[in-house]
Amino acid sequence: ADTVLTGITTTGTPHLGNYVGAIRPAIAASQNTDVNAYYFLADFHALIKCQEPEKVHQSTLEIAATWLALGLNTDNVVFYRQSDIPEIPQLTWFLNCVAAKGLMNRAHAYKDSVQKNLDSGEDTDYGITMGLFSYPVLMAADILMFNATKVPVGRDQIQHIEMARDIGQRFNHIYGEHFTLPEAVVDDHVAVLQGLDGRKMSKSYGNTIPLFLPEKQLKKHINKIVTNLLEPGEPKDPDTSTVFQIWRAFATKEQTDAMRREFENGIAWGEAKKQLFELINEELREPRERYNELMENPDYIETTLKAGAEKARAVCTPFMDKLNRAVGLYPLV
Ligand code: TYM
Repeated sequence: ADTVLTGITTTGTPHLGNYVGAIRPAIAASQNTDVNAYYFLADFHALIKCQEPEKVHQSTLEIAATWLALGLNTDNVVFYRQSDIPEIPQLTWFLNCVAAKGLMNRAHAYKDSVQKNLDSGEDTDYGITMGLFSYPVLMAADILMFNATKVPVGRDQIQHIEMARDIGQRFNHIYGEHFTLPEAVVDDHVAVLQGLDGRKMSKSYGNTIPLFLPEKQLKKHINKIVTNLLEPGEPKDPDTSTVFQIWRAFATKEQTDAMRREFENGIAWGEAKKQLFELINEELREPRERYNELMENPDYIETTLKAGAEKARAVCTPFMDKLNRAVGLYPLV
């Protein structure tokens, strides 16, 4: 049976990109009762990107409420908070000791930060923490700890999954076959969802459409999506349009084909955005209500997460024992 695992970093409010890239496919995968599923809140990862404690804390609540509101069934899925699992940082250390620095040098997030430094005339590693540099190692520990076979993610995370394979393989080579090597699962018709400004929708760019905005706000955000200056009636290119791209991520194939024709017939941007709002709102209306209820009930969420951590630890405590032995860390007698 497959083991499906994925996580979301607890910085900021979950957005449409997280939903179509990770949450929706992960929930769909967990409906198959043959799979083992592990979904978690990556709050250790959050510390790499955000040093505002209140924000990390609030985001943890919001992301947990999001999963539950979208219908995650915690009887079938082990749903937990990364920081409730002390074995994760233990394994991270083991992996740090086999991961090649040269491999980490190639990580996109690190390279982007270096490039930004060089562009602004700073030293190469100015302001770059060890947390950022070894981010993929922590992520490898998340994945390898549960011997995940399938990791549903957005396209931006594929490199990290490949690094997890690489690091796992290296450990296996040295210490024996302990880890299953994971594969990324990427929804082809989604790609990387674009944000309001046409760049990748990302908390760090501040261009997101949060998933559970109140209706009016959702409408407002959609109206802010940047479009090129074409008159109503002029044909529009769907393939370069953020409006169309988001449409496609929510629509059926028929609806997508129909909208493509509308674009070619020069639908007005206002009209296209109105239809986009209606499409998204339809899918999110009910979960939004559940989300608002859950946000009023942090006790329930905390209890749910604690129960999930217990299930997770039932798996990783014995596995960690085995790994400790494998590397030579065990009692003398
Ligand atoms: P994070 O929190 O940046 O994003 C969570 C998930 O959402 C996907 N995603 C997107 N998909 C499509 N379009 C977008 N614009 C978009 N933005 C984000 C991401 O690809 C991701 O799947 N390092 C991870 C969290 C993590 C993790 C893991 C994931 C930690 N450990 C182990 C899988 C397995 C991250 O920061 O994702």
